[in-house]
Amino acid sequence: MLVSATEMLKKAIAGKYAVGHFNINNLEWTKAILEVSQELNSPVILGVSEGAGKYMGGYKTIVGMVNGMLEGLKITVPVALHLDHGTYDGCLKCIDAGFSSVMFDGSHYPIAENVEKTTELVNLTHKLGLSIEAEVGAIGGEEDGVIGMGECANPDECKAIADLGVDFLAAGIGNIHGKYPANWPGLSFETLAAVKDKVGDLPLVLHGGTGIPEDMIKKAISLGVAKINVNTECQLAFAEATRKYIEAGKDRESKGYDPRKLLAPGAAAIKETVKGKIELFGSAGKA
Ligand code: 13P
Repeated sequence: MLVSATEMLKKAIAGKYAVGHFNINNLEWTKAILEVSQELNSPVILGVSEGAGKYMGGYKTIVGMVNGMLEGLKITVPVALHLDHGTYDGCLKCIDAGFSSVMFDGSHYPIAENVEKTTELVNLTHKLGLSIEAEVGAIGGEEDGVIGMGECANPDECKAIADLGVDFLAAGIGNIHGKYPANWPGLSFETLAAVKDKVGDLPLVLHGGTGIPEDMIKKAISLGVAKINVNTECQLAFAEATRKYIEAGKDRESKGYDPRKLLAPGAAAIKETVKGKIELFGSAGKA
């Protein structure tokens, strides 16, 4: 059964580790992440962007697929199904479809409107036993070939949003989605410490988990980060493994027209990537 992410992240704060949030894009991705989490006895959060939701045939398809896998693959570790960077409407749809957690990304609204919409969604999710993440300070990334630097969140705004009752908070600390530019100055631990000072034990979320050096990940966890989002690194691993398999002509040797064989190297590469992250984040054995 799917669970909200609240309890697993409270435990992560107490135990000084982080739970991985891995974005899913298809069945192979989902299965690989669930299997490796079970093998390592780690809680896990499956992230779904609105784009991935559309691609996979809608939120209800995803809920059906994930619930089916929990049973069919005998997954017993805690699993949350979480909308990533949701709009207000996207949150309502996922709540209706059976997701166990949502992120409302109101960071582009003026603070008053962000507060109003977040409050409404906090009340709704909590009435249903679901968890909710909010964001303060935009998280940059590549758009039209230009990589925007991540913003640093204002700690007072973080406190204002935290006080609305969200279960975990994504505070921008210079992190960005996708690849980091060569001149990236690194995470702002000063901002992270100032945010932590304002919000206490509220679990903090680090987006853009791809490409952050290991020592920075460890330091962020020591300063209150309890959920780390990873997407691009799994995409790169999947693409690279599939490309190698085809370039080596292996698809022609082993029934290349069989999609189960063609997609297997990519799925194995995702498993390896996720395993490395779970070990780095320290959540193995914590289910
Ligand atoms: P990356 O794609 O940089 O791993 O970031 C993922 C993320 O933050 C999803 O919300």
